[in-house]
Amino acid sequence: SSNSLTDRFGRTVTSLRISITNRCNLDCIYCHSEGDEGNRKEMSAKTISTIVSTATKFGVDKVKFSGGEPLVRKDFEDILRELPKLKDVSVTTNGVYLKERAFGLKEAGLDRVNVSLDTLDPEKYAYITHGSPETLQQVLEGIDAAISAGLTPVKLNMVLLKGINEDEIDDMLELVRSKKDDLILQIIQVMDFRDGKQYDLDADKIEKKLEEYADNITMRNMHHRKKYVIDGAEVEFVRPIENTEFCANCNRLRITADGKLKPCLLVNNNLIDVSEAEPDELPELLRRSIDRRVPFYRDMKGKTIIGD
Ligand code: GTP
Ligand code: 5AD
Repeated sequence: SSNSLTDRFGRTVTSLRISITNRCNLDCIYCHSEGDEGNRKEMSAKTISTIVSTATKFGVDKVKFSGGEPLVRKDFEDILRELPKLKDVSVTTNGVYLKERAFGLKEAGLDRVNVSLDTLDPEKYAYITHGSPETLQQVLEGIDAAISAGLTPVKLNMVLLKGINEDEIDDMLELVRSKKDDLILQIIQVMDFRDGKQYDLDADKIEKKLEEYADNITMRNMHHRKKYVIDGAEVEFVRPIENTEFCANCNRLRITADGKLKPCLLVNNNLIDVSEAEPDELPELLRRSIDRRVPFYRDMKGKTIIGD
């Protein structure tokens, strides 16, 4: 309908991905920082709820919170409580603070969590995140707390890193299998940020292996991801690199921590600042941002995008 946020390529945005801070308590070797431009300004709970409420009038029914590390914001629970009713509210976190906060987050309205977990080896964990080896144990306890609090399904984000964790897929599958009603493994191809490039590995090879072992394969429409069931464990494979279908099926709009609408993770010159906007200006600004959405790997690669 004319009331939906459909872009020039026929993609309807039904989901917001909202960064609420650029701060993080870890420092991962491959981190894309959600396209952070270095601004330290952070939106208030009120600003966030106003933007989300407007978006829901145009068909948005899902919100994903991200960072930086979202749980470094002590008022994240307040942000959740201010939100209008939505179908799906989730957060992607490194899990370090999850143990203490899982129940409160659930109570404040959070539905589920994704937790970054690239390795089960404490030394490798410290190498990847610049945390300490003990941090891994905290994260594992955080995952258990999230399950107990009903923040399920908990997705474990495993960014595949050549020479570091590529031999750990079976161990991660085993972990997921041990709590298979509550856990999903999300294997992610590393994108070229920071040192990402040097850890990239052959995604076709991984996909072939998953296909070989899978009892069942389905497609998840959003971002065109394949879903596998391997001996009872549910696995998604996220291939964002040079994947035209991934972008062709993108249904989310990003919002930066300092309050800018961002049509694509990989493009930084077409943002629209809504941090100071009046509520009655928001529909028009949303529309303008939607009009700037271009499927990165289908129509945009190598072309210059004209900003404001
Ligand atoms: P849910 O499945 O709904 O929980 O969302 P998600 O899996 O997309 O969220 P999550 O934050 O766990 O992200 C998983 C991977 O997808 C990460 O590597 C993200 O950076 C990547 N990703 C998410 N959104 C985008 C996007 O718009 N563009 C690109 N290129 N990658 C994305
Ligand atoms: N490539 C792929 N995924 C990444 N993430 C962070 N940086 C990258 C990258 N360069 C993932 C992490 C985190 C999620 C928000 O994004 O797994 O859980």
